Amino acid sequence: MAKYIVQGGQKLNGTVKVSGSKNAALPILCATLLTNQKSTIKNVPDIADIRHMMGLLEFIGCDVTFEKNVVTVDPKGLKNKPVVMEGVCNMRASVLLLGPLLARFNKAKISFPGGCILGKRPVDAHLYALESLGGEVHDDKDLISLTSKGLKGADITMKEISVTATENAIMTAVLSYGKSRIRLAAAEPHVQDLCRMLNQMGAKIKGIGTHDLEIDGVNTLKAANHTVTGDYLEAGTFAIAAALTNGHVKITGVNPHDLDIVWNKFEEAGINLDFTKASVEVLPHDRLKRVRKIRTAVFPSFPTDLQAPFTVLLTMTPGESMVHETLFDGRLNYLAELEKMGAKFDTLNPHQAIIHGPFKLKAAPISSWDIRAGAAMVLAALAAKGETEISNIGFIDRGYENLEGKLKKLGAKIERV
Ligand code: EPU
Repeated sequence: MAKYIVQGGQKLNGTVKVSGSKNAALPILCATLLTNQKSTIKNVPDIADIRHMMGLLEFIGCDVTFEKNVVTVDPKGLKNKPVVMEGVCNMRASVLLLGPLLARFNKAKISFPGGCILGKRPVDAHLYALESLGGEVHDDKDLISLTSKGLKGADITMKEISVTATENAIMTAVLSYGKSRIRLAAAEPHVQDLCRMLNQMGAKIKGIGTHDLEIDGVNTLKAANHTVTGDYLEAGTFAIAAALTNGHVKITGVNPHDLDIVWNKFEEAGINLDFTKASVEVLPHDRLKRVRKIRTAVFPSFPTDLQAPFTVLLTMTPGESMVHETLFDGRLNYLAELEKMGAKFDTLNPHQAIIHGPFKLKAAPISSWDIRAGAAMVLAALAAKGETEISNIGFIDRGYENLEGKLKKLGAKIERV
């Protein structure tokens, strides 16, 4: 697998435009199966997870093209066959094919999705929602298998606020007979973007952006013609990169208010920001201040996907900072890599750690654990003195489009080898 070699200590300066959101584009590509017309999706990031998903769509008979961040999906040749191929096990998001296939064919069968590196991630919340809408789950070894005698709208209270389970429930309910209500729905910007696209296709979804969705089922949907929303998680990653190099960076192509809770923490750290409707500018700071705590939770709280990147900044702020990861069991594993760079912390349990700052990170060979921990390693390398080698960067390629190209344009010294 490729590596990054980073020479730390360069201040980042300039403007960077974020790519389309991975976590919006993945369900959106699956939602193109809900029509039999050819859809066009713009601003799709060219990243490994999207390539995987396109492979899965082709495997089940869709004609898919991808050029200059525009994907077309023609599902005329869509076949109702089990989605059993390597990519399914590698990528958790393949579970998003369940809802659309069940809605189109009253039958869906896929390999149990992978992605276990973040700890135990069951699919019970998905199955509960699909069963509530009339799906029947069958015991089929390593496969998830569902059939239905006809999907019917239902009043569903989700088992937990889960992003992809909510997306599966929505994609099924839009083609189910009658009214559905989805309580405890996830409201992340990517869930909102999926809903907006479905409404453009003719779906009737109300309550977008809240935890309580009302859906009037329709018989058919028309082609999607949609531009994927900018990636707020990528924007957050660049903002942290700017802050920890004490640079001056404007990040465009994103609604900055999707990250209000994160900006609160920037303010607590003594970092000033300027906003427009579609950008945020990180200004150089005089002195970093203590951040008492970050606690991840569902939107609009602090996003789990920015926990590892923000913790790198916490190594530079003075005093003790508590990091509380509430969603995933394995999402503090990357601290072992930061320790190699000299970070001082106490791990209290799999969900909580106390970072003792400030200290100057030192270059060391480190490795990437998952998409976001991988980005965090790049941030740590940018802040560190000397040359850092980061292995396993395939994880980063799953979620960030041309990360090194964008960082180089801002003045970072980073090479892929
Ligand atoms: N969970 C269950 N049962 C389920 C589903 C989830 O117990 O059926 C648990 C999980 O174990 C976890 C929690 O619920 O503890 C939250 O998981 P959620 O279902 O919300 O996560 P997800 O939908 O599988 C999406 C993103 C993740 C992101 C999380 C949280 C996509 C494709 N993936 O995953 O993104 O971390 O929501 O916001 O949207 C990433 O981009 O790097 C990434 C991992």
